[in-house]
Amino acid sequence: MRIGVLTGGGDCPGLNAVIRAVVRRGVEVHGDTVIGYRNGWQGPLEGLTKPLDLDAVEDILARGGTVLGSSRTNPYRVDGGAARIKQTLAEHGVDALIAIGGEDTLGVARQLTEDGVGVVGVPKTIDNDLGATDYTFGFDTAVHIATEAIDRLRTTAESHRRALVVEVMGRHAGWIALHSGIAGGANVILVPEQPFSVDQVCDWVTRRFERQFAPIIVVAEGAVPEGGAELLSTGETDSFGHVRLGGVGTWLADQIGRCTGAESRAVVLGHIQRGGTPTAYDRVLATRFGLHAVDAARDGDFGTMVALRGTEIVRVKLAEATAELKTVPLERYEEAQAFFG
Ligand code: F6P
Repeated sequence: MRIGVLTGGGDCPGLNAVIRAVVRRGVEVHGDTVIGYRNGWQGPLEGLTKPLDLDAVEDILARGGTVLGSSRTNPYRVDGGAARIKQTLAEHGVDALIAIGGEDTLGVARQLTEDGVGVVGVPKTIDNDLGATDYTFGFDTAVHIATEAIDRLRTTAESHRRALVVEVMGRHAGWIALHSGIAGGANVILVPEQPFSVDQVCDWVTRRFERQFAPIIVVAEGAVPEGGAELLSTGETDSFGHVRLGGVGTWLADQIGRCTGAESRAVVLGHIQRGGTPTAYDRVLATRFGLHAVDAARDGDFGTMVALRGTEIVRVKLAEATAELKTVPLERYEEAQAFFG
């Protein structure tokens, strides 16, 4: 069998572990040939390939990013995009395509399945906001990086008795903020799912200072003040229509300074959360996803995505996986509130 592989959307630690597992199992166990497509959907659109033999995946398990490159190309925004992808796959004799990506990449995978292409999806995103899977790889690494940053920021915040606002990624879902905030002992956590009151935040900050400690406020980039809107770093949108967020941390630090009179600073973690080597957990999860994805392709089980349910890897319909984002439920947020202030 000839299998194509691509990585789309924002990169994420663990992508190379999936690619390695697909190649190792595909080539060694099933006798497949694996072709890498470069830069997400741009690869099959333009016929950009990278051969993936056993040597090509040697030594990539622990490497961050993706050896295939990635992009946010949306073939359904390109004239005749789906037809061009079908033509490329036919020319290359590819029987099945493994698409590793988040909601956008897998949304395209679902549409392509409906258009007759044999696709199997693998869920990735540091945001952990894909439905139908308990966890996505990349999330654990991002949470570790953010937690380490919070631990470091705490000591300097205490030395100077400052309020420190840490802005983490999370456009529509606050999973990174919630987990890193709990793990790092944050005094306030703000997520996109729950609009926040600046007065309430200032109250928690003041209470923390009154106990002679410096507050750490973890805020997801997509968090919004009550009655306000997302803070945008630019007005630009990508080809899936997402605006670029960023700026809520700096804005909030300024508000805290004004209402409490305390010195405050903001740190935006940004792409540091997505870079570098994956944690052991993410390497294992990504490896298992890769092994199961190539088996699904072998079985001709197209239009599916591999997913983690408990400790098992299962196959779910791409339509189910992309139907709805997995956001932080109120009861999970309320657990964290026990530590606010
Ligand atoms: O992939 C998801 C994500 O990490 C979001 O949390 C964030 O808003 C976005 O990527 C930023 O990605 P980029 O700057 O690469 O477009």
